[in-house]
Amino acid sequence: MRRFLRSSTMIASAIGICVAAGSAVAEQVASAQPGDADIAAMKKLYVRPTEIPFPKDNAYAPAKAELGKTLFFDPRLSRSGVQACVSCHNPSFGWEDGHKTAVGENMLVLGRNSPTIINRAWGEIFFWDGRAESLEKQATGPITAAGEMNTPMDVLIDRLKGISGYQKKFDEVFPGEGITEKNIAASIATFERTIVSAEAPFDRWVAGDEKAVSEDAKRGFVLFNTKANCVSCHSGWTFTDDSFHDIGLTATDDVGRAKIVPGVPELQYAFKTPGLRNIDQRAPYMHDGSMATLEDVVRHYVDGIEQRPSLDAEMKPLALNDQEVKDLVAFMETLTGQDRPMTLPVLP
Ligand code: HEC
Ligand code: HEC
Repeated sequence: MRRFLRSSTMIASAIGICVAAGSAVAEQVASAQPGDADIAAMKKLYVRPTEIPFPKDNAYAPAKAELGKTLFFDPRLSRSGVQACVSCHNPSFGWEDGHKTAVGENMLVLGRNSPTIINRAWGEIFFWDGRAESLEKQATGPITAAGEMNTPMDVLIDRLKGISGYQKKFDEVFPGEGITEKNIAASIATFERTIVSAEAPFDRWVAGDEKAVSEDAKRGFVLFNTKANCVSCHSGWTFTDDSFHDIGLTATDDVGRAKIVPGVPELQYAFKTPGLRNIDQRAPYMHDGSMATLEDVVRHYVDGIEQRPSLDAEMKPLALNDQEVKDLVAFMETLTGQDRPMTLPVLP
């Protein structure tokens, strides 16, 4: 069930604060101010890891990541020669594209917002509806998808084989194998795993620098972990449980996870929880790009929720005053670090 739904109680009990639905204890804790020890315990849940996890069957090698970067930035991966992965996953927009929903080949407007590729090395399942199980499996999807890059794999392989610089690079990285679908995917996935959010003011605060974030942001962090209950889905240092929830957005004919895993009523309108790193660079928000600002997002959780049977059990009525809404936004704004500028690859 981990892939379908996930409860918050594990996380809540780890910090010793009960956020269980409507319970008297939750009310009590929500009104009591958590002490320093409680806040220290909450902070422990968000400590940055020191290493990027790479899978055994696609180990890191600098030349592989470099080749993946070249492919990621190369518009020749699309049939028209216009769209590159970076067109929709652009470092200037927190590796999204700033559009409400993505714009593909021939300016075709697609149905969903481009998600970020930040911190996906820690991801367990991919796409808004979780239809890919690994970055390797994900990588070739957009290349061949008619609306996105529209290049059949054999056409792409022939095209890359015709570029001697690529022949050479693939031979170096994959001796005796060269240009194959698997190796294209492995290179791109390796590059993507190197895209890690930079240390943010929030991380410096977690590490002990009390001056790194404002008092508003500190109150926002406490709200996030207690009364506002955001932590039940946006958990861990990347702020996602990589699971699927219906959070009561206006219903459309996009049913999300339910299309991939039919027959589970809770998965109707359930989409994957996005991580919140660099979130202030990544507007507009949600799978449908329906929200322009972080304040709009918080106000949705306060009074915008559409009630329906599939609504996640953790989506409880939330009473936040204007200051508390501001505090949550101030907290989320501390999650953006100073990324190293991304240099453009020279294409072969
Ligand atoms: C036309 C815009 C567009 C292009 C080009 C594009 N993507 Fe995407 N990408 C999207 C959209 C939209 C989604 C979400 C689709 C969905 O969930 O159904 C997505 C999802 C993803 C995800 C999943 C992220 C997550 O957390 O679930 C990854 C990774 C990704 N793309 C990588 C790539 C790579 C690699 C390329 C190039 C081979 C690429 N994209 C090309 C728009 C694009
Ligand atoms: C029940 C799980 C759940 C809870 C509780 C929850 N979220 Fe979310 N959040 C999600 C999911 C799922 C999405 C994506 C929904 C979609 O697009 O359909 C999301 C989207 C977001 C986004 C937009 C991210 C993006 O990349 O577009 C932000 C910001 C956000 N939530 C912040 C919060 C805050 C702040 C709280 C607490 C007030 C909160 N969330 C509570 C699951 C949750």
